[in-house]
Amino acid sequence: MKTEFSKLLFRAVLLSLVIGMLGSASGVAEGQPTKKPKLGYDAWMTAKLVASQQVLTHLTMGDFEKMEESARRMQFVHYLEQWLRKEEFKNQSGYMGQLHAFEFATKELVRHAEDRDMDGALKSFQLVTESCVRCHQLIRDPVE
Ligand code: HEC
Repeated sequence: MKTEFSKLLFRAVLLSLVIGMLGSASGVAEGQPTKKPKLGYDAWMTAKLVASQQVLTHLTMGDFEKMEESARRMQFVHYLEQWLRKEEFKNQSGYMGQLHAFEFATKELVRHAEDRDMDGALKSFQLVTESCVRCHQLIRDPVE
């Protein structure tokens, strides 16, 4: 029951995010040549977003076991994504820096969840979200 509810909740949150993104994207694209969306990113987006949202839920509820599970899922999706796309970014030091920041933060999150350390887990999650945002900033504004 509980898990069904949280699944529904994640879907609702995800859906509203996607709708929000679509809304803002179409606003920006008006009057400009439309950039064709690349295929396959939806799956990454869903997996990464859902896993990080799950971590937040488990942090809030103090469920360390599930927190660890979701953090590991986040790590896994991220590793897979990097492995598939490593050629594109390997020479960009800023990107690699954020990549390492993310890897470090998720590893710390798993460690603190194992230790049932709420302060540590919360701090690591903040670092994770920071690296999500920073890395995406870099992708949006690439340095020549
Ligand atoms: C080290 C860099 C890096 C980190 C850290 C990172 N991402 Fe990404 N993410 C990417 C790349 C690269 C893509 C593919 C986007 C592209 O190439 O346009 C992507 C795609 C996405 C997308 C699809 C939308 C888009 O911009 O294409 C979402 C949403 C997303 N990531 C969320 C997250 C979340 C949530 C986190 C943290 C839990 C995170 N990302 C951490 C690099 C990163």
